[in-house]
Amino acid sequence: MEFFIDTGDVEEIKTAAKWGLINGVTTNPSLIAKSGRKQADVIKEISEIIDGPISAEVIATDVDGMLKEASELAKIHDNVVIKLPLTEAGITVCKMLSDKGIKTNVTLCFSPNQALLAAKNGATYISPFIGRIDDIGHDGMALIEEIRTIYDNYGFQTQILAASVRHSTHVRDAAIVGADVATMPLNVIQKLFKHPLTDIGLETFLKDHQKSL
Ligand code: E4P
Repeated sequence: MEFFIDTGDVEEIKTAAKWGLINGVTTNPSLIAKSGRKQADVIKEISEIIDGPISAEVIATDVDGMLKEASELAKIHDNVVIKLPLTEAGITVCKMLSDKGIKTNVTLCFSPNQALLAAKNGATYISPFIGRIDDIGHDGMALIEEIRTIYDNYGFQTQILAASVRHSTHVRDAAIVGADVATMPLNVIQKLFKHPLTDIGLETFLKDHQKSL
């Protein structure tokens, strides 16, 4: 499973990059707004830290506007992946960009049928938002499982990018059901390291080592 960090904060990316675990980055307009910087500047700086896919989202909602923004974003760096919303326009542009060999991440996916549309039009990644589905009392992980089955039934190469990941159990379950990638905020990645028995065990080992000196 690949790990992406889900943030527009360059300092967080630098912290996570040191662990050697991060394969890519996802951003969205809310995360970029939180950074208080221009999207192009943030994406350029990220490309100097992480050598892997960096998702940058279009703001336009019509085909022509999306294509124009995609072309500007793609110029920033070869690793830029164009993030498109799961709308009629987004899915149309997904096909146009895929046909040109430009990588895409179709976002705001909340149903297996939406994921099927993205795969049919050659999306590189599909982003099912598991946390937001859980938030409304439904089962986000079931969606990942259903998409996995559909993609495997037909041999679709679109990668399932588990998004809206809120805690470490989401990561474990997404790995069990076969998501290709999980994109996570820094605090979730940090929690993956943690287990109380590791801390207790290490404390004991260090105390015992002191006794043996
Ligand atoms: C990633 O691509 C998504 O934009 C992100 O994971 C959304 O997460 P949220 O539901 O916590 O905002």
